[in-house]
Amino acid sequence: MADESKQTVFSGVQPTGKITLGNYLGAIKNWGALQQRYNCIYCVVDLHSLTVTQLPAELRKNTLDLVALYIACGIDPQLSTLFIQSHVPQHAELCWILDTICYVGELSRMTQFKEKSRKHADNINAGLMNYPVLMASDILLYQTNLVPVGKDQVQHLELARNLAQRFNARYSDTFAVPEALLSKTGNSIKSLQDPSAKMSKSDPNDNAVICLTDDADTVVRKLRRAVTDSDSSFNCVRHAADKPAVSNLLNIYSLTSGETVAQAEKRFEGKGYGVFKQAVADAVIAVLQPIQARQKQLLADKAYLESVLKTGADNARYIAAKTLSKVYRKVGLIAPIR
Ligand code: TYM
Repeated sequence: MADESKQTVFSGVQPTGKITLGNYLGAIKNWGALQQRYNCIYCVVDLHSLTVTQLPAELRKNTLDLVALYIACGIDPQLSTLFIQSHVPQHAELCWILDTICYVGELSRMTQFKEKSRKHADNINAGLMNYPVLMASDILLYQTNLVPVGKDQVQHLELARNLAQRFNARYSDTFAVPEALLSKTGNSIKSLQDPSAKMSKSDPNDNAVICLTDDADTVVRKLRRAVTDSDSSFNCVRHAADKPAVSNLLNIYSLTSGETVAQAEKRFEGKGYGVFKQAVADAVIAVLQPIQARQKQLLADKAYLESVLKTGADNARYIAAKTLSKVYRKVGLIAPIR
């Protein structure tokens, strides 16, 4: 049960497509370290995935793969609450209430809505627009204080804060107002082919993205093909504003090897891009291989995963139901007769 003296952390990843090194370095990698200090709640947000067309069998597989991945990346179900969003109906229920205090203008201005509308022009469904309200519900249901996410989610988090404050002002104090927790160097890992774009699950260029499931050869190949910045100087491996591609690779190297960026710059002084890229690949592979092995083991133990999911959903439902009944009462709904 939650320790009331601790603050609450909530985060989630969509089980859509292949999980990338960006998802890992910007979010999941950081979750494990928070488990001792905070009440941590980690969710596989399957309802969010439905905003783009999914093959049902694939969605089911991706969802379980992601549950196993969370654990393989260091989420300990004994310390954290780990569950699947659709197992806790309060997420969708709170979403409806928050919909009624959220303005259409706020949603149509969201960068991700605009981007996804462009990408899925044949399927601009109402869920795509409402997506940030469901995300706000995920967060606010648990009285969350901190949300460890990548930079691309900061705008959505700002909306969650606005909705919390708006509801509190209208109906009296109900929700904690959450804050984003960003990784210093990992909050925006860039595409390997275009350092002005983020590394994204939906990038059609396979070489732009390292997936957590990539084997060693694939990682080496993708990193070898990664774009660099033209520079023939002795110190070409430098973190600098005019070297966005190399800076991105240095961030990846630093986060996977544990060396600071400054240490890495020193290590690769006088070395060319070839040596550097191989070292980045080695560091990434050293991180991915144990995760892949552990994930495979976990997926073979269905009974264990089911027990984790049952306990997680029970815990989550308990907290979520408390918040939701408070919300229903405050807005004037009559409690069900028992
Ligand atoms: P999603 O599934 O797109 O991404 C999951 C997490 O990975 C981060 N991320 C990145 N970080 C650094 N560099 C990148 N290239 C990169 N790409 C992705 C994202 O910022 C995110 O933290 N809306 C969310 C899921 C969500 C959620 C929530 C998150 C739903 N409800 C409540 C936190 C709290 C999303 O689509 O993330």
